[in-house]
Amino acid sequence: MRKKIVAGNWKMNCVQEEGQKLTSEIVNMIRDEPSMDVTVVLNPPFVHLHGVNKLISGVKNIHLGGQNCSDKASGAFTGEISAEMLASFGAGYVIIGHSERREYFQETNALLTEKTKQALANKLVPIFCCGEPLEIREANTHESYVKNQLTESLFGFSEDEIKNIVIAYEPIWAIGTGKTASAEQAQEMHAAIRKHLASKYGESVANEISILYGGSCKPDNAKEIFSKPDVDGGLIGGASLKSRDFVDIVKSF
Ligand code: G3P
Repeated sequence: MRKKIVAGNWKMNCVQEEGQKLTSEIVNMIRDEPSMDVTVVLNPPFVHLHGVNKLISGVKNIHLGGQNCSDKASGAFTGEISAEMLASFGAGYVIIGHSERREYFQETNALLTEKTKQALANKLVPIFCCGEPLEIREANTHESYVKNQLTESLFGFSEDEIKNIVIAYEPIWAIGTGKTASAEQAQEMHAAIRKHLASKYGESVANEISILYGGSCKPDNAKEIFSKPDVDGGLIGGASLKSRDFVDIVKSF
């Protein structure tokens, strides 16, 4: 049975006190839900990793993740953070290839293969992002666009490796815009992604891979989106910065 996952991508937000407060509020709201079968991942900025890890320690179902990692193992790469470092601070997950990094830092499909290798080598679960810009959606070539992202970055991995990767489909036109993809649009693309994975790895493996939706997912639309057969949870941006909203999304299954 593939995992239900709700990950909160804080992006470049929260000074120290805000991050501690947000995490404490989320922990207090989730701590008493041990039967919840949803994996919650908090992906704060790097500077919060130690503090957040301490606050979530021992809380069932809450895990720590990074928002990025280097494609290198270590060395003279000023400002970079390695996958090994993330793991040493308690991270179990790492977002790879978020559209904002692809755009602002020119992250290519080939570079993202190397980042994913680093994550897997350090036993981190990559949350691999894909998704089309508005002009591709309007041209109705979004399915081939996203398939190509996956083929170029991930199809060199083995069955055992791909089973450890979570996919996040984030239509760029829905990120931070309040213009959420409809539940039907999300299901259409998630099913296409799963079919593409099956074309390479077989249905059994494809059915084990969690595919998350991201893009203006909020408490008032999460339930319908998460009810779709190929949607296994969400990668949440803005709403992850409000503890009540984030936990309401977690409880939307
Ligand atoms: O990584 C999740 C993020 O891109 C979605 O952002 O604010 O639309 O939920 P938001």
